[in-house]
Amino acid sequence: MITGPDLQSLVSQIADEMRARPDRGRVADYIPELARVDPAYFGMAVALPDGTVAAAGDADTPFSIQSISKVFTLTLALGIAGDRLWKRVGREPSGSAFNSIVQLESEKGVPRNPFINAGAIAVTDVILSGHKPREALGEILRFMRFLSDDQGVAIDKAVAESEQRTGFRNMALANYMKSFGVIENPVDYTLGVYFHHCAIAMSCRQLALAGRFLAQSGRHPATGLSVIQAERARRINAIMLTCGHYDGSGEFAYRVGLPGKSGVGGGILAVVPGQASIAVWSPGLDAAGNSHLGRIALEAFAKRSGVSIF
Ligand code: DON
Repeated sequence: MITGPDLQSLVSQIADEMRARPDRGRVADYIPELARVDPAYFGMAVALPDGTVAAAGDADTPFSIQSISKVFTLTLALGIAGDRLWKRVGREPSGSAFNSIVQLESEKGVPRNPFINAGAIAVTDVILSGHKPREALGEILRFMRFLSDDQGVAIDKAVAESEQRTGFRNMALANYMKSFGVIENPVDYTLGVYFHHCAIAMSCRQLALAGRFLAQSGRHPATGLSVIQAERARRINAIMLTCGHYDGSGEFAYRVGLPGKSGVGGGILAVVPGQASIAVWSPGLDAAGNSHLGRIALEAFAKRSGVSIF
């Protein structure tokens, strides 16, 4: 892995190239508040274990992390339930859209993996158990602030309310899972926490810093504290590789060769185990709902820096 000025110049070069490209994908419009985001943004940040960050473009502009939050809620839920979590959600790629309902009928309401919407709602339900929605949300936010070493991380209330007003598919998924007993709390509570953690706003710099524990065998580099066991960090990375980009996960693994998690806000968090945590943001999406230029930027980074898990 390259470091220092060479790393900074690579990140700056990729940001300049991405900003100049005309093909930007399509901004998500099923959440009205996200449809207003300018597709011209591009940001990138690479965080190293010692906390240094190489950043370029709009790397300090907060954006809606959406499904990237599911990496962190999975981490928290594994801390709460341990391997019992896997009774409520599977670990297989779905091969379907992130908001699909079809597999739930034949699979007794147990979602394929923790990153599709149904799976992430089930994970949120585990975090909520025994708490009030406000407390569960506070826990998630405190975790994000701790991991990014930044107390400024916050929820974008307008995005949360926008999705709460229009999230009929997620309501259907949650109610359907409830009918199988996979959701234990009142559906409104679970969905309220889910919509709000998806609406956390972070910059590429904050997100890259927050992802370092996945690159560092579960340790939070700034404090040396263990966030999660090394084995669990490896396994979360494995699920990011196989399921982090929904029906585009195979293509992402083929082109980028790193564990990654996307969100419909246009962000992607990628992990170089043992070396770095990378966040990119470009709001326009491809057909599978993953950042179009975000993936291309990560592919360029992996190729030119030589990083890959393979
Ligand atoms: O539930 C949803 O539809 C959104 N809050 C999150 C979806 C998402 O980010 C999918 N990612 N590419």
